[in-house]
Amino acid sequence: MVELKHAGYPRSNSYDAEWLLAGDMGPNPLWLLEDLARDLDLRPGLRVLDLGSGKGATSAFLAKEYGVQVWAADLWVDPTEAAAHIGRTDVVTVKAEAHTLPFAKEFFDAIVCIDAYEYFGTADNYLAYLTAFLKPGGQLGVATPAMTREIRELGYIPEHIKKLVGWEALAWHTADWWRFQWEITELVDVTAARLQPDGWADWVAWSRAVSEYRGERDGALDMLEADQGEYLSFAILAARKR
Ligand SMILES: C[S@@+](CC[C@H](N)C(=O)[O-])C[C@H]1O[C@@H](n2cnc3c(N)ncnc32)[C@H](O)[C@@H]1O
Repeated sequence: MVELKHAGYPRSNSYDAEWLLAGDMGPNPLWLLEDLARDLDLRPGLRVLDLGSGKGATSAFLAKEYGVQVWAADLWVDPTEAAAHIGRTDVVTVKAEAHTLPFAKEFFDAIVCIDAYEYFGTADNYLAYLTAFLKPGGQLGVATPAMTREIRELGYIPEHIKKLVGWEALAWHTADWWRFQWEITELVDVTAARLQPDGWADWVAWSRAVSEYRGERDGALDMLEADQGEYLSFAILAARKR
């Protein structure tokens, strides 16, 4: 029986560790969401898009913890598989590509994206595309792998990071990079852009739990142990559409 408790995330602690680890597609989605939700105002009945929802643990969490209506949209995971994993009738699962979303403009009160924005959200024109699906005043919340320093500023991708993810690390930015990238558009007001102080340690804890659950060493552990929190964390980003 794998233990997965975190003193900082009491809501997440009530979810079954085996269920969470069976749905693993990346580090600690519920801890990231519980942290991000501190910078969002999620109220019962709001329409929320969980973009890049994977197997849907975060979608179940949003519906259960905040009473919001959730659309769980993902590219790689089949919606029938996600629905079975989520196990709730109040979450709609949809197969969707982040650049061709099958929703009406201004449909959502909030869009949440946990550990997925780095795959599609760094292009300069993406914020304008995505926020078109938010009502005016709607909220955007993102948790994404982040760096303590910009790779552009370093001039290279640190070897231990390059070894695991290669050029894809170019989509991992500092919290300040995201703040500027969003604020300069004047499309949104940024309400949070912060690097998690415990992001690296939480990622390690998750990867160790995944290793124990699967009976084999998680692929991210070499990178994380070499890093020791020097470069790697997660960024928590929140904004409101003007
Ligand atoms: C690292 S997984 C995280 C999944 C889930 N949010 C979690 O934290 O467990 C990244 C997710 O992003 C989704 N994704 C990647 N590129 C996408 C795209 N272009 N459009 C929609 N979803 C995408 C994948 O399908 C995948 O489920």
